[in-house]
Amino acid sequence: MKGIILAGGSGTRLSPSTDSINKHLLPVFDKPMIYYPLSVLMLGGIKEIMIISTPEDTIRFEKLLGDGTDLGITLTYREQAEPKGIPEALTISEDFIGEAKVALILADNIFYGQGFTTILRNAIKNHRHATIFGYRVKDPRRFGVVEFDHHQKAISLEEKPEEPKSDFAVTGLYMYDQRAVQIAKKLKPSARGELEITDLNKEYLKWNQLDVELLGRGFAWMDAGTQESLFEAAEFVKTTQQRQGFKIACLEEIAYYLGYITKESLYKKGKSMEKNDYGQYLMDIADRKHTQQYWDSIDHHPMLGLVNHE
Ligand code: DAU
Repeated sequence: MKGIILAGGSGTRLSPSTDSINKHLLPVFDKPMIYYPLSVLMLGGIKEIMIISTPEDTIRFEKLLGDGTDLGITLTYREQAEPKGIPEALTISEDFIGEAKVALILADNIFYGQGFTTILRNAIKNHRHATIFGYRVKDPRRFGVVEFDHHQKAISLEEKPEEPKSDFAVTGLYMYDQRAVQIAKKLKPSARGELEITDLNKEYLKWNQLDVELLGRGFAWMDAGTQESLFEAAEFVKTTQQRQGFKIACLEEIAYYLGYITKESLYKKGKSMEKNDYGQYLMDIADRKHTQQYWDSIDHHPMLGLVNHE
């Protein structure tokens, strides 16, 4: 499966903070927002990833993440001329997707919870046609909403409904077969003038080919699209990290544990930022100061086969 991160948009809801910088480069506590969706694709085992952003900002993402070599993955970049809607990510990357299946993630989405790697890897392994991830929220009117029956089978989908039929938001992580590109090409803009990802998902629903994975209670999903939710996300990351001493979405740590990079390159990266906490953390992992026990405790983990255990 290949991966796409959609990191364009106008960011007007976060203005003036986003007047001169792309929203997904803003920090969520101690790292840029895009680290979080990138960590999701990496944990899923996806190594070929395309990042799509605005004509002005694409170069900034490239400066931040390069071609992915430092993380043992392949990153390519493409521009979205105007924010015409989420499904456009699929048509823009048609040649990149080719005959592969694809996971599309919105760059302002943050996922965190025990067992997420297993959920992701199972969803990828069992993927048929289209998979979406549902999460219970207090105000579903802000999101795409999925209604399902007691077999967890989706029965309706609506984008930002006035009267939601369920409390389950559709998160910004979607997995599709190759047909998604052709479906995206045929979509028409909605009343708000955008191509809607919900309309694309509805096509799969119509054919009875839409699978829904629910992310349970105890799991955290946030979309950092407003001042309020960005601040909440940063608070969440800070509190969780400080309590446990593990970083959320530390790309180099993930790359190391997946066996993509060596201990030496992890240490070198940490050393290049040794004056800050992030750099110290990387050096600590390379030195095995505080992760050994954690890693031992998840020895049964399904990622084990891929893990760098030396
Ligand atoms: O976060 C989940 C929600 O994302 C879903 O529940 C909704 O069904 C889905 O439509 C979407 O809703 P939003 O209102 O959050 O979409 P928004 O327009 O804010 O865009 C989401 C992200 O995608 C944002 O980080 C900017 C980026 N984007 C958006 C559009 C429309 C682009 O890069 N290009 C675009 O053309």
